[in-house]
Amino acid sequence: PYVIGEPCIDVMDRSCIEECPVDCIYEGGRKLYINLAECIDCGACEPACPVEAISQDRKIEPDQEQFVTDNKRFFTDP
Ligand code: SF4
Ligand code: F3S
Repeated sequence: PYVIGEPCIDVMDRSCIEECPVDCIYEGGRKLYINLAECIDCGACEPACPVEAISQDRKIEPDQEQFVTDNKRFFTDP
């Protein structure tokens, strides 16, 4: 699946939401989050983001890996 990284923080452009066919992108306090369990890996959101915040989780840069963890926490913690 895809994950949203650091560039989204405080930008929250939201273009990605409109592209997602399964509506699996959710708003957090300072960035948006893709629910990995719902993402169908279509890739439609990736080019929609003007700040290139979205990438495939298996291709993510090492300095962005904290956002994969942060993303899991967003969907598992109450
Ligand atoms: Fe939605 Fe597709 Fe992006 Fe997954 S890859 S978040 S399904 S637009
Ligand atoms: Fe964030 Fe880019 Fe979507 S800035 S809200 S990931 S379009």
